[in-house]
Amino acid sequence: MQTPPKEMGNIALINHPSRENPFRSVVEGSRMPIVVTDPNQDDNPIVFANQAFVDLTGYDLDEIIGHNCRFLQGPDSDPEVRRLIGGALAEQHDIKIEVLNYRKNGTAFWNELYISPIHDDEGNLLYFFGSQLDCTLRRQAAARIVEANAQLERRVEERTRDLEQALRHREVLLHELQHRVKNNLQVMASLIRLQAGRSDSEAMKVGFENLLHRINALELIYRKLYTADAGPTLELGGYLAEICETLANFHGPDRGIVLDVRTRPCHVPVETALPLGLILNELVTNSFRHAFADRKTGTIRLKLEPLDGTRWELRIGDDGVGAAGGLDWETNNNLGLSLVKALAKQIRATVEVDGSAGTLFTLTFQAQAADARAGRSAAG
Ligand SMILES: Nc1ncnc2c1ncn2[C@@H]1O[C@H](COP(=O)(O)OP(=O)(O)OP(=O)(O)O)[C@@H](O)[C@H]1O
Ligand SMILES: [Mg+2]
Repeated sequence: MQTPPKEMGNIALINHPSRENPFRSVVEGSRMPIVVTDPNQDDNPIVFANQAFVDLTGYDLDEIIGHNCRFLQGPDSDPEVRRLIGGALAEQHDIKIEVLNYRKNGTAFWNELYISPIHDDEGNLLYFFGSQLDCTLRRQAAARIVEANAQLERRVEERTRDLEQALRHREVLLHELQHRVKNNLQVMASLIRLQAGRSDSEAMKVGFENLLHRINALELIYRKLYTADAGPTLELGGYLAEICETLANFHGPDRGIVLDVRTRPCHVPVETALPLGLILNELVTNSFRHAFADRKTGTIRLKLEPLDGTRWELRIGDDGVGAAGGLDWETNNNLGLSLVKALAKQIRATVEVDGSAGTLFTLTFQAQAADARAGRSAAG
């Protein structure tokens, strides 16, 4: 094999006329399309192109050699890309860039082009080496992914909009429903008040009053749900305090009975708040009615506080006559305490009754875990 002179650069080796030149064979046989241009000739023509370049572009070798690479450009080639390549050539630095090129038959393909200058040992520019890679499929796949993503995002946005609209619609309906329930309960309360006013029997009057207060406790919840930006939960302490206030006003603030209400913020679902409100209504009504019969003054206490994180304790008591007033929690069958038992069972609350010094009901119930946490931190 004839070895080319050592002092020749690599490109010179490739261009060495010997058919036995191994470098030329490697570059010619490479599956990567390769061209070499000569910037020292007018218009920087191609002086070498391998078979892979011929295959890629569809041009014959004699249509390639001696021509500037711009024959690969076409109607949609980007002038900005052309400007960048021109700049790299002028400044003699390498550049890797994707360009839209055209084959001889007019079909376009994306070309991942790499151009680098080749200098001699003195730094003089000899050639530009250009390798190409048809990256059309990769770009099409990437474009398809981008389009699929955009489509997906559009669909998610549309679905979110639909859901938000449905949710707003549902909220409006729920709001309207709460409003109507509240109004209907108010109408019922007015009717009962009218009926009580026309009743001659004291027992009937008391019965109507009891009914009125039970309906008030219900109405108050719907009023709160309707007015507040209430979510699915309700602040129990505020609700119970309001029931106490209504009862105190009804039973006469001038009676010398003090209400001592201490609550911590406790958010519970309406299904828990409502039974607790009705229980409180019965027990505080009982205190007003039965605890202080022969006394001028007294205190009714309400305390709501967290126990162990998930459970809360509600204490309702008075310093009145206690067990001596006739309270028998176990055997009593009157409606008031029967309601208390049934409602406590409904929310799985435990009830302890102490009639030794006044009357004290201690209920423990489950609040939502998140609210119990809030309560614990509030209890600090
Ligand atoms: N805080 C209290 N202090 C003293 N006695 C009480 C107290 N609470 C209840 N009692 C006694 O327990 C009885 C039962 O109470 P309960 O609430 O079940 O019935 P009521 O108040 O008599 O009637 P209603 O069914 O209308 O409530 C009362 O009649 C009363 O004698
Ligand atoms: Mg009662």
